[in-house]
Amino acid sequence: MAFITRQFVRSLSSSASRQAAIKHVTIIGGGLMGAGIAQVAATTGHSVVLVDMSEDILKKSVKVIENSLKRVAKKKFAEKPEDGEAFIQKVLKNCSTSTDAASVVQSTDLVVEAIVENLKVKQGLFGSLDKVASEHTIFTSNTSSLPIADIASSTTRLDRFGGLHFFNPVPMMKLVEVIKTPSTSQKTFDTLLEFSKALGKQPVSCKDTPGFIVNRLLVPYMMEAIRLHERGHGSKEDIDVAMKLGAGYPMGPFELLDYVGLDTSKFIIDGWHAMDPDNPLFAPSPMLNKLVAEGKLGKKTGEGFYKHK
Ligand code: CAA
Ligand code: NAD
Repeated sequence: MAFITRQFVRSLSSSASRQAAIKHVTIIGGGLMGAGIAQVAATTGHSVVLVDMSEDILKKSVKVIENSLKRVAKKKFAEKPEDGEAFIQKVLKNCSTSTDAASVVQSTDLVVEAIVENLKVKQGLFGSLDKVASEHTIFTSNTSSLPIADIASSTTRLDRFGGLHFFNPVPMMKLVEVIKTPSTSQKTFDTLLEFSKALGKQPVSCKDTPGFIVNRLLVPYMMEAIRLHERGHGSKEDIDVAMKLGAGYPMGPFELLDYVGLDTSKFIIDGWHAMDPDNPLFAPSPMLNKLVAEGKLGKKTGEGFYKHK
């Protein structure tokens, strides 16, 4: 009897701490990552609003989503192209756009922020959204390198704030790092794990440490590749071939830097260098700085370490 009672109480308390599933998602920032996250959320049946600063940017984001969906559909519906077209239209129907974040977040379950990698800008955004978002709304950042707790400190919902770190290209990469700060509630964290699974992704649990798991390993590796090249110890082409054929990586480090975006890579390394100036792994690179100063940001601007069509 005591056992039944304990079980009953346990099941009551676990259902009380269970958060309703995420249905409506607001993605802020319609760039490389935001467009991909919106696409995946819309594909898995969520109602998505993608927010950016202008209609022109949002038009481009929707075009990117359409093109990516075409690539998915070409594979998924190879035998029946008409079903592929219906699939694309169904997904696009789940996704709308807006330039007015404040009004969208009044009735959303989850905010995923994917704007520029700058702490002050992210804090400014969340500070203003916190005042207007619904009480139950969970806030998350897709930051590559900034402490989630520092971003969350601009809000009053520390228990409903966590990290959802996706990987580029979002439609293809299976991983999501789910980040729990000391203030993130277990209920919020569990909801974020469930949401990641609902997107068809594999979540891993991360502490709120610089770069979480993947970037703490990947970014120093990419910076080491630049330094190796700066010392004249290998051409970028040879380094890329070496890591693809010798280590089995799908892209070499210079291809990957161009793919991630050199501005984002520079934001990450500069932030870590400021935090830990004596760590040689976080030393800035003159070559990276020069390319960014010249506006050569990688694939997204047509040129970075390489020229792109
Ligand atoms: N949307 C939809 N489908 C896509 C796609 C996209 N954006 N990109 C690739 N695909 C699919 C398509 O089906 C494509 O076939 P089609 O060209 O016929 O459409 C197929 O994948 C193969 O693509 P590619 O021929 O272009 O090249 P690939 O076989 O090398 O695969 C890749 C592309 C998946 C991107 C692969 O190169 C890869 O895994 N690269 C490494 C990416 C990586 O490491 N990402 C992490 C970056 S770090 C990060 O994101 C965190 C951070 O905070 C900075
Ligand atoms: P991006 O430059 O491609 O896109 C950023 C978008 O945010 C732009 O469209 C910009 O107009 C918009 N934006 C900026 N400020 C805004 C605001 N206040 N309100 C609304 N929109 C705003 O950048 P990205 O590569 O998509 O990176 C976005 C975030 O995701 C960064 O924090 C980055 O570190 C992180 N991230 C990047 C990658 C990657 O491979 N590029 C991978 C994982 C995480």
